[in-house]
Amino acid sequence: MEAASVHNGRVALVTGAARGIGLGIAAWLLTEGWQVVLADIDRQRGLLVAEVLGENASFVVMDVASEDQVAAGVAHVLGLFGRLDALVCNAAVADPHNTVLESLDLTEWNRVLAVNLGGPMLLAKHCAPYLRAHCGSIVNISSARAHQSEADTEAYAASKGGVLALTHALAISLGPEVRVNAVSPGWIDARDPYVRRTEPLSDADHAQHPAGRVGTVEDVASLVAWLLSRNAGFVTGQEFVVDGGMSRKMVYS
Ligand SMILES: NC(=O)c1ccc[n+]([C@@H]2O[C@H](COP(=O)([O-])OP(=O)(O)OC[C@H]3O[C@@H](n4cnc5c(N)ncnc54)[C@H](O)[C@@H]3O)[C@@H](O)[C@H]2O)c1
Repeated sequence: MEAASVHNGRVALVTGAARGIGLGIAAWLLTEGWQVVLADIDRQRGLLVAEVLGENASFVVMDVASEDQVAAGVAHVLGLFGRLDALVCNAAVADPHNTVLESLDLTEWNRVLAVNLGGPMLLAKHCAPYLRAHCGSIVNISSARAHQSEADTEAYAASKGGVLALTHALAISLGPEVRVNAVSPGWIDARDPYVRRTEPLSDADHAQHPAGRVGTVEDVASLVAWLLSRNAGFVTGQEFVVDGGMSRKMVYS
């Protein structure tokens, strides 16, 4: 069994960590003793949350769809710590809805694919040598929407399906040194605490889930932390759905 303190000195890079699930993952890893670098396109908010998280957290600005910015961000992490042990690709255009299909243009489609799918590929490419050196691990955040859809979500659904395929491809290319897994959340209430308090979800929102509630960022973060740990040493190339059982429920009315 690996204890939390074993992570002392190990370095994790979490993208899209200025808010929501990414921030929850960063905060969880810090409690386990990781050094955490938060990356986000939102510089102002990223700097603020990294300061609040304390001395073991730092921030680097990065648009994950830009190879130059990804390369510079990874170089920054290596300059700070001289090593990298974990990569969590969480940044995304997280609103699943796109323009109705008949009006959906390639610019909108390409941006969602570039951020949500191109980003994890670029991060893996630039982090690979350092992750190999320390037998590190990657977790890509996909979505239950890789398997199920509402109308007008083509770009997001395709990007998240692509993340699952990218995950098993990377697991084969980067093994045996580097393990690569995907986490697919269902409905996670990733809103800021103030909004969660002032605009609470309804009883019906919670009750429809077999688990009896909507998910929290901690539900995702705890699973990501386990996948990054050496306790998950025989697990690679896999998808883990964290959706309160929603995708196992028969939905015919
Ligand atoms: N919240 C959910 O219910 C849910 C469900 C399934 C999957 N997910 C996935 O979980 C992840 C986090 O979702 P969330 O709800 O916390 O979203 P969010 O919108 O609250 O946070 C996303 C973060 O990513 C950053 N970001 C966006 N584009 C970026 C870019 N090009 N480069 C760097 N950073 C960028 C944003 O600034 C933001 O801080 C996403 O991959 C999302 O698709 C969320």
